[in-house]
Amino acid sequence: MRVGILTAGGDSPGLNAAIRGFGKAAIGAYGMELVGFRDGFTGLALNRAVELPAAALSGILTLGGTILGTSRDKLHKLSLDGQVRDMTTQAAANVRANRLDAVVVLGGAGTAKNAKRLMDAGVNVVMLPKTIDNDIVGTDTSFGFATAMEIATDAIDRLHSTAHSHHRVILAELMGHRVGWLTLGAGISGGADVILLPEIPYDVDNVAATVHSRIERGSAFSVIAVAEGARDVHDSAEYAEARAMVKSAVTSTERKAAKAHLAVVESAQREHTFKLAHELERATGLETRVTILGYVQRGGSPGAADRMLATRVGAAAAAMVNDGVFGVMAGVHGNAVEPVPLSDVADRTKTVPLDHDWISTARKVGTGLGD
Ligand code: F6P
Repeated sequence: MRVGILTAGGDSPGLNAAIRGFGKAAIGAYGMELVGFRDGFTGLALNRAVELPAAALSGILTLGGTILGTSRDKLHKLSLDGQVRDMTTQAAANVRANRLDAVVVLGGAGTAKNAKRLMDAGVNVVMLPKTIDNDIVGTDTSFGFATAMEIATDAIDRLHSTAHSHHRVILAELMGHRVGWLTLGAGISGGADVILLPEIPYDVDNVAATVHSRIERGSAFSVIAVAEGARDVHDSAEYAEARAMVKSAVTSTERKAAKAHLAVVESAQREHTFKLAHELERATGLETRVTILGYVQRGGSPGAADRMLATRVGAAAAAMVNDGVFGVMAGVHGNAVEPVPLSDVADRTKTVPLDHDWISTARKVGTGLGD
């Protein structure tokens, strides 16, 4: 068999480990040939193919980023020479021209939608779950998440000592898109005093009350882990309403107007962590600072847990291709890696359930959640 492979969406630690895991099993255990495509689905649409012999997979296990390059480009809306074109049919034609029996895509929720489009165009597709956000439905976890949680936990540790020394409140803004897994995991692991998640809209007064109660107990400092998607009660309702308008729009004029309104709301809320810092400084009397962790969370070498996970899902996906199991994601369920239909994954988001053990754990150890 000849198999194509590409990485799509935001990069994350473990992409190269997964390329290696898939490739070594595909070539070594099943005698397949491997062809990479550069820069996500754009590479497939424009046929930017590169042969990947076994030698190309050596020495990449520990590398951050992706040797193939990535992009967030969508197959059905590719910007080419100033024009937006649907390149799905062309991508499927390139798969045939390269004599590929299947294409393996490494990505997150957005990638699942592209992967499904490719599948609907007649291509045999298998997806590997990658994201630091841990928001993919149909899998317990995704590679990149554990490493990002380590990096963010280390950052929260470091913020503690400086917040303590200066008697300050420090807000650490973490990635996670619209879900709070990374902030909750790193917040608990780093002992943040308050953790704010998109799933639990906060009230500034409640956050200030937690900081106050710590001052009364002799801790005149606090570290607050804020998810990039977290909002106060008012902003959260405004954002939810704007998103619902986009979803319920019927005509293209309605959709255009709803999207423009959503963009205005998003732009007005972009600096929400700084706004919260300002409000907390006023309410608590403590100097307040913001640290945006940003892309540091996605960069660098994967930790051991992600190397293991990426290698496992990679090797399992090679077995799925060999067995002719297509149109699926290699989902992690406990100790098993199992095929999950792409139609169950695409266009869905795994948020933190409010009754999740991590949330009750945070509450039990006295962490404020702003509600
Ligand atoms: O999905 C991964 C992620 O890092 C999110 O946590 C974040 O919101 C987003 O990507 C950033 O996207 P970009 O790389 O396009 O700036």
